[in-house]
Amino acid sequence: MKIIKDPVQLKQILVGERKLGRTVGFVPTMGALHEGHLSLVRASKCENDITVVSIFVNPTQFAPGEDLKKYPRVFKRDCGMLGKCGVDYLFYPSVRAMYPEGFSKPLRIRNAKWPRLARSLCGKFRPGHFRGVVTVVAKLLDIVFPDKLYLGSKDYQQAAVLQQMVKDLRLNVKVRLMPTVREKSGLAMSSRNRYLSIVDRKRSEKISRVLLELGRELEKNKEPVSKLKSRALSELKKHVDRVQYLEIVNARTLAPVRARCAEMGVLTACFVGKTRLIDNVIIRSR
Ligand code: PAJ
Repeated sequence: MKIIKDPVQLKQILVGERKLGRTVGFVPTMGALHEGHLSLVRASKCENDITVVSIFVNPTQFAPGEDLKKYPRVFKRDCGMLGKCGVDYLFYPSVRAMYPEGFSKPLRIRNAKWPRLARSLCGKFRPGHFRGVVTVVAKLLDIVFPDKLYLGSKDYQQAAVLQQMVKDLRLNVKVRLMPTVREKSGLAMSSRNRYLSIVDRKRSEKISRVLLELGRELEKNKEPVSKLKSRALSELKKHVDRVQYLEIVNARTLAPVRARCAEMGVLTACFVGKTRLIDNVIIRSR
């Protein structure tokens, strides 16, 4: 595995790879890797000749007061994991390399659809977050130019925003959305799970149970959506410290649904102690 820090160098190498007719899969990450990240890497390995992974803790997607400074950085360990998976190139740029002096503002595109998508759910509680995500992923795509971009359903809204960005900018990349990898307990794997104490981890395990149960009820129980939702919300509140949102949405548009539709998403963000966790379940009627 080659570790490359310089965007220009990586760009040149990948131009060379493509000239040889090789296809490129790309997995952007912020490091502190776990099986969720590795599942994306493995999918890329299966479907492409070359796999590129980036590790970059992107400052523009953190608001002041969020966990940018204490975000886990375990580069050596991450390298070992990626090397074992057979990653070809690890892109590990500095903040300066990604945001050179004179860089003005994160991306905002007039008439694009993603800003609207980005204002609901997590966007309400993390203003500017998705703008930062879109900015960095657009920059990374410009450097890597992959055939396929691998994203996890764990960050369902992020994937929706990025898919919309790819459409709006007519980028020539296929987005591959991969399933959420969970611990045996059901807890969605996340780099932020490291922040949890043993007791808080146990409490966090209830989040996915509540979502799964709500998903099952939406499929089987004929009661109104709003009633099922408020029952699930009271259940969730018993286990976590604060619920930012628990929403039942159209899985394609992310608009809240009042009546059942073919593809629904149940999405939540909540705090357990000081740790903010997100999770979701997608329900497709058969
Ligand atoms: P990060 O949180 O490191 O996640 C990198 C990728 O791994 C994302 O596509 C995310 O959805 C996926 N992922 C995380 N946990 C997962 C799990 N349990 N199962 C499946 N996939 C999982 O998301 C980011 O970084 C950043 O916002 C980024 C896109 C890199 C832009 O900075």
